Amino acid sequence: MTHRMISGENIHVTAIYPGSFDPVTNGHLDLIGRGAKIFDRLVVAVSQNLEKDPLFAVSERIEMLEAVTREWKNVEVDAFDGLLVDYARAEGASVILRGIRAVSDYEYELQMAMMNRKIEPRIETVFMLPGEAYSFVSSRLVKELARLGGPIKGFVPALVEERLRAKVS
Ligand code: PNS
Repeated sequence: MTHRMISGENIHVTAIYPGSFDPVTNGHLDLIGRGAKIFDRLVVAVSQNLEKDPLFAVSERIEMLEAVTREWKNVEVDAFDGLLVDYARAEGASVILRGIRAVSDYEYELQMAMMNRKIEPRIETVFMLPGEAYSFVSSRLVKELARLGGPIKGFVPALVEERLRAKVS
């Protein structure tokens, strides 16, 4: 684990990467890889908040995330409910990591980041850009493709592709 020295103090930065991850895509994984490089500890946190119609149970989403993030030793997978900032505080995190793909993501992300900052000013939201190959990949569209029998290879890890196919068949 790397520790940065800032004015003689050891700074250990935990970041929370929250989301629905229903299911994890290669875009999420790209962002996790980028986050794992700059934060000491990255917790991928699956939201347990009641969602309209999730395809995968939280336990299944966690199982898939754990399998595909095994290569990063500083990445953990967890679930949370309630307010994200409460969870982040409990985890000792000072950063919330979010990915922004296109301008269309910005408005929602801005609202969330500002709201979270208002509730907990000590936690910073950090935005990162996924690789351009993933700039159009979303869990929602991947699920739709899978349901309609379209090609999902390359958008999700192989394990997720299998689980998606099994789920919609
Ligand atoms: O991947 P998603 O579905 O866009 O993730 C949204 C998520 C889970 C990050 C967001 O809904 C969230 O933070 N939920 C937790 C409840 C909360 O803190 N709500 C207030 C946000 S301003």
